[in-house]
Amino acid sequence: MEKPSRRDVLMAGGTLGALGALSVATPAQAGSLWTWSPAGSVAGTGEGADPRWVWDPEADELVASLIDRGAVPEVNRLLRTWTKNGQPLPAGLPADLRDFMERARRMPPWADQGKLATAVGFNEKRGLYLGVTYGFASGMMSTVIPREARAVYYSKGGADMRDRITKTAKLGYDIGTSNAYRPDGEMIVTCVKTRLAHAGVRHLLPKSPYWNKVADEEIPISQADMMVTWHSLPTTVMQNLVKWKVPIPPAESEAFLHSWQVCAHMLGIKDEYIPNSWDEANAQARQVLDPILAPTPEGIKLADILLNMGTIVPGGPLRYVTKPILGSLTRYVLGDEIANWLQIPREPLWDGVFETLWEPFVAVREGLLSMEKAPGALQKFYWAFDEILRLGALLVLSGGDFPISIEIPDANNPN
Ligand code: HEM
Repeated sequence: MEKPSRRDVLMAGGTLGALGALSVATPAQAGSLWTWSPAGSVAGTGEGADPRWVWDPEADELVASLIDRGAVPEVNRLLRTWTKNGQPLPAGLPADLRDFMERARRMPPWADQGKLATAVGFNEKRGLYLGVTYGFASGMMSTVIPREARAVYYSKGGADMRDRITKTAKLGYDIGTSNAYRPDGEMIVTCVKTRLAHAGVRHLLPKSPYWNKVADEEIPISQADMMVTWHSLPTTVMQNLVKWKVPIPPAESEAFLHSWQVCAHMLGIKDEYIPNSWDEANAQARQVLDPILAPTPEGIKLADILLNMGTIVPGGPLRYVTKPILGSLTRYVLGDEIANWLQIPREPLWDGVFETLWEPFVAVREGLLSMEKAPGALQKFYWAFDEILRLGALLVLSGGDFPISIEIPDANNPN
């Protein structure tokens, strides 16, 4: 069977995924058939279509048409004024876009306001750890997700990584705010705009000669790719918090998951792919995330930029949190293999410091261990760990800087 052309795929829209046979037709994709059951999803049921062949047909066709008819600059200009979830859409938007956005901004029927309120409490209590894990577990992991690294590098935003980091941080910031999904919050707006931006990338990247040379897919950001990136966020974050023994009541853990399930839905991920529990999330991540992690030249460059975060983050440079320290933190969080892929040098002092002192540091901060009973060296490094937490928090807070508007791209990275 021949690989479907981009046009065939777009024409067939989401239904292509039902043809599981396609999964074995593409050598680059062979070896990891989609077997995760929709019974474990928030929908509880579904066709079980392989998400590598499902994109976001409605948004994709619409945004492709906006780009092709030259409407994007005006749409972006108008959408800059649309910032709050409960705010009416600005006047003057093309009718087809308005129609779509009115539907896309609706919360899923399964969204649970009680859980979302509990998630707010969790985010407030755990904001410092969340900052570090979003930045150094999720952010650095994104550089070893080959498809994401390539897409980010060769899309328009790749030309200005500082701007892109801040825009991406906006989602991490918004989801943690007390009114995230409420009418006066901004998370729904951020998700809908991101959904449109992704649709733009799906239309534009296949025209990039640079991306085409290295990509192993014809259209980027499939539903499978979306879930991979999603797992690099809440799943990886929660795995680290658990590993560090941060005390988290089950209701808060579930609520945090719920806020990310709603986010996935609002980004256009189908409910049948969104895991309904941490067990399901961990199982799906083992299937879709772990096996695809790999180094790419693009990812190595992106990681290097992220490691300079101490100097990127507004409010920085943080004098003490140097690149070698962030390299060690990455090695500690993501392990030796990934750190070596990213060509992060070993740091004899700091690698050992994280290995032996980070968990006691968390325990002391949480009041579970007294400083007297902690390893003696912790006193010396406590300040540095605190600064790292502050950097993570600042990074996420940078997403709250006004004004940040996520935009539909109208071109690729020209470089
Ligand atoms: C843009 C979040 C999945 C590639 C964005 C933005 C956000 C975001 C907030 C807007 C920031 C900006 O415009 O710079 C997410 C989340 C995801 C996800 C939460 C999954 C849950 C993916 C995947 C890919 C991808 C799977 C590629 C494989 C991109 C690219 C842009 C973008 C290339 C930039 C568009 C431009 O250059 O203007 N994403 N993303 N994203 N995303 Fe995603």
